[in-house]
Amino acid sequence: MSYEKVAGVSEIPKGSMRSVRVGNEEVMLANVDGKFYALRNRCTHVGGPLAKGKLSGYVVQCPWHGSKFDVRTGSVVGPPASAPEPTFEVKVENDAVMIKKPS
Ligand code: FES
Repeated sequence: MSYEKVAGVSEIPKGSMRSVRVGNEEVMLANVDGKFYALRNRCTHVGGPLAKGKLSGYVVQCPWHGSKFDVRTGSVVGPPASAPEPTFEVKVENDAVMIKKPS
């Protein structure tokens, strides 16, 4: 299974997130205390762009109606969404943040 470089480590400071593209998927990449996490960048409620929301600790809040997801697992920690977000595996090599391509 192959990984794709999506960003440089220094481009995503601690406590921030941004959207990146992996294959055909738009992915939200978050840096929590120096560790990177990736979820699909489309809220399971009605599709809000999570990377434009708010990140506090391990929780990302959707900018549209406020659903909250744990970036480590994709699980819902606040409504109105009820379905978890798909997660992506992330690894760091040198200064490159890489995400495993969805199969
Ligand atoms: S689209 Fe994310 S909470 Fe509604």
